[in-house]
Amino acid sequence: MSESNKAANLKFGETSLDLPMLSPTAGPDVIDIRKLYAEGRVFTFDPGFTSTASCKSKITFIDGIKGELLYRGYPIEQLAAKSHYLEVCYLLLYGELPSAQELEDFETRVTNHTMVHEQMTYFFRGFRRDAHPMAIMVGVVGAMSAFYPDSTDINDPMQREIASIRMVAKMPTIAAMAYKYSIGQPFVYPSNDLDYAANFLQMCFSVPAEDYEVNPILSRAMDRIFTLHADHEQNASTSTVRLAGSSGANPFACIASGVACLWGPAHGGANQAALEMLKEIGSVERIPEYIARAKDKSDPFRLMGFGHRVYKNFDPRATVMKQSADEVLDLLGIEDNETLKVAKELERIALEDEYFQQKKLFPNVDFYSGIILEAMGFPTSMFTPIFAVSRTVGWIAQWKEMIADPEQKIGRPRQLYIGAAKRDYIDVENR
Ligand code: SDX
Repeated sequence: MSESNKAANLKFGETSLDLPMLSPTAGPDVIDIRKLYAEGRVFTFDPGFTSTASCKSKITFIDGIKGELLYRGYPIEQLAAKSHYLEVCYLLLYGELPSAQELEDFETRVTNHTMVHEQMTYFFRGFRRDAHPMAIMVGVVGAMSAFYPDSTDINDPMQREIASIRMVAKMPTIAAMAYKYSIGQPFVYPSNDLDYAANFLQMCFSVPAEDYEVNPILSRAMDRIFTLHADHEQNASTSTVRLAGSSGANPFACIASGVACLWGPAHGGANQAALEMLKEIGSVERIPEYIARAKDKSDPFRLMGFGHRVYKNFDPRATVMKQSADEVLDLLGIEDNETLKVAKELERIALEDEYFQQKKLFPNVDFYSGIILEAMGFPTSMFTPIFAVSRTVGWIAQWKEMIADPEQKIGRPRQLYIGAAKRDYIDVENR
């Protein structure tokens, strides 16, 4: 980022302000409005932050027109094809691809933190068995500061580092425990001789009564899903984590706030909603009915897994996910998957439809992921927890970047007040 030699001149009433412009490595220039209120006594208004850069970051770049997603400069397609999730975690956290030794050390550190405090198992028992796993994750992750108080001091770089490793390492264990609890099966401990994705699958699907062999096809697909969801610039849940962190809240509380935000169906909850929608549509013949509903302004129905705030041509993750769905179902010998057929036909029809073209709506990362996760044996209620497991490293990387930023301040937006003007209290007998 550099001071651009350009400046923006803003004129209103008698005021004329020259605002500096900042030039990024990639993406649009930024008008620096930090002095706007102090010198101009006005606010800007941008409720959905559609035109607002909330921070400086070196972690992830998205070009919504080109459909480009870069983690520390590396294209997501290359990382999905050539890397693996823990290497991507290292890249997001430390900024560079690791040497072989650095990677081995990092993987060992994460592996050695995958178990959770045994007392946490009692925490789960407070939930009803039919609690949504995301409800459990919000609660358990938020409570982690009570189990790991020795890594909550955000001003201690060593404690920040330990908390980061603990979060990346323990989220799969917590998500798997939430799943096991919801189906009434015993918790399965992590196994240090399995890689990250394989470990997650064995914690979810193995039972004490018999040996469990991780299917390498599923493990590779799981790892790729983790990679595709790892970070995504200043999305709603990441912005929530940054805002929570700006108050000095401990890292576990910040990540819990990200889990809570991700749960919404407009965000990470869309993967569950998208598969449920595809199943509700049920057959290719019923697609036109739902396309019509999606276009009907009087109908709140939206095509779940479609559209994106930033991508306006295609979501590069959806492209990789669609290929992976074909591969996984084929390798598993699942033919004529009706849901996949409906998904592909829905995509084809929607992309040819003028409404969707005009609104720039197309499948996003959540449209195909559920088909793969269902083929792996996960219930739809586990789709968003899996997204949360993956995105934890992105939340942590962004939180660390914010904490280390010497310019960071507590986030405190203002407002456009449209309520009642000042008025005097009226005694109840006079109302
Ligand atoms: C994720 O931000 C990120 O990076 C998020 C994410 C990440 O990795 O962190 O990529 C993950 O959250 C992906 C998005 C998952 N959500 C869904 O699939 C839910 C369905 N999608 C929509 O709710 C919507 O597209 C959003 C929330 C994703 C984006 O909303 P925007 O950018 O605020 O767009 P909008 O709501 O202003 O919609 C623009 C127009 C509207 O019509 P008009 O009011 O202009 O007439 O497009 C329409 C909308 O009605 N529209 C849709 C639609 N999405 C938008 N119409 C039908 N179906 C849809 N899915």
